[in-house]
Amino acid sequence: MEFNTIVDARVRKAAGCAVVGIYEQGDLGLAARQVDAQTGGLLGKLHTRGDFPGKLGDTLLLTEPRGAPAARVLLVGLGSRKAFGRKQYRKALQSTASALAKTGARDAVVYLAMESVAQLDVTHRARMVAESLSAQLYKIPDLKTGAKPKPPRLTRVSVAMADAAASKSAAEGVRIGAAMAGGMALSRDLANLPPNVCTPRYLGARALQLARDWPDIKARVLGEREIKALKMGAFLAVAKGSVEPPRLIVCEYRGAGPKVAPVCLVGKGITFDSGGISLKDPPAMDEMKFDMSGAATVLGALRTIVELELPVNVVVIVATCENMPSGAAVKPADIVTTMSGQTVEVLNTDAEGRLILCDAITYSRRFKPAAVVDVATLTGACVIALGNHFSGLMSNDETLARELEAAGVRADDRAWRMPIGEEYAEQLKSNFADIANVGGREGGACTAASFLWKFAKDLKWAHLDIAGTAWLGGSQKGSTGRPVPLLVDFLMQRAQAK
Ligand code: BES
Ligand code: MN
Ligand code: ZN
Repeated sequence: MEFNTIVDARVRKAAGCAVVGIYEQGDLGLAARQVDAQTGGLLGKLHTRGDFPGKLGDTLLLTEPRGAPAARVLLVGLGSRKAFGRKQYRKALQSTASALAKTGARDAVVYLAMESVAQLDVTHRARMVAESLSAQLYKIPDLKTGAKPKPPRLTRVSVAMADAAASKSAAEGVRIGAAMAGGMALSRDLANLPPNVCTPRYLGARALQLARDWPDIKARVLGEREIKALKMGAFLAVAKGSVEPPRLIVCEYRGAGPKVAPVCLVGKGITFDSGGISLKDPPAMDEMKFDMSGAATVLGALRTIVELELPVNVVVIVATCENMPSGAAVKPADIVTTMSGQTVEVLNTDAEGRLILCDAITYSRRFKPAAVVDVATLTGACVIALGNHFSGLMSNDETLARELEAAGVRADDRAWRMPIGEEYAEQLKSNFADIANVGGREGGACTAASFLWKFAKDLKWAHLDIAGTAWLGGSQKGSTGRPVPLLVDFLMQRAQAK
């Protein structure tokens, strides 16, 4: 999908489809008023007859309305004008996408970003057009063998603005929105792949491919021998139950000066989490292919950042392996030595995420990072606590935590702060090693994060537990691409603050 911006307040462009908004009670949006005048009061009549009450998210397609310049006019309900905010605007855009996809239109002009939306400037309004339409029209690259449904005809969307100044701001927004959509699509594509395709080696190859596509990215993929040389004992312990060899992926993007300390984004890349010897129950075990969503989102965010040429330095670190049971697998009661030197008693092999991440966080120290943010589908307990709406956010740094929280609000990809500290670390005491990898059921998301906290001393560190937000189950099963928007917004803000 291609996006651009145009100046067209009077609805003159002869497009395949013009998308105009109507509030409740026949209250026409800016562009709808123009169409109403062009068509001899047609939209007003539709309201009087009760055919289009303007309910939020409702759509009505008019074909060749006499007098209108477009072959089609799509009416989109915006709900109450007073209540029209960020959420309502997004909903209207999602309905727009679904309705447009059902038409034969090849191109469309969206006039919705001309409306004022509480707390959203022109740039953000335009950004959301590109972001929402692309996200809504995303198709899973499935392996179904039947006749392929035809790809949507819609290939070009123009965002209309009333004047040249607004159009210029909108162009910046569209650029951001399209780049965001690209990063989210990469993240979703990777996470949606079956685990027999998306292996640690495959993820490594995709990272190298990303660096070939975007020469500003330098990528390195370390194999088992190099991981051994780094003494990543916890990471290797998880990997050793599988015939698939582990990979440590390191991608650097230097958009700021060479002396600027980078932000490290660390992703959990378990390409399948069977639980290992502490084997999981069968129900929904297939969803553990999504256990590499942290890796997918940091790679997706990197793609967006490089496309936007953000003036920031970013290092993406992905620890990736399978968690499988076998004669060679790590066992409950095994004690491993982490890269940091601390010893860990593995009481439950299903608490593997923290084992690979503690070594990846230790590895990040060599980049002398300004901040380290790890992203992981770490605990079922986080899903119980927050559901699918908020990612869990834990941090040892107030400023960093607030930045991430605020980025989540701006990007509509929210995170909720949760506690960590000595109280939870107490639960991780072991009689045989420095620390145990599990600490009982109570506060499971917080003990997991507090385990990582023990490896983040003196770093400005934050942890995003995305177990509830990275994918949807049931009939909607598939990756969401979250939290790419949060991560990118966080780095955009950092870039601006410089
Ligand atoms: N990948 C899982 C976490 C998970 C579970 C995410 C369900 C989404 C849905 C993680 O590796 C795991 O198995 N965690 C255990 C930890 C427990 C053994 C302390 C969990 O949450 O049950
Ligand atoms: Mn697990
Ligand atoms: Zn896991």
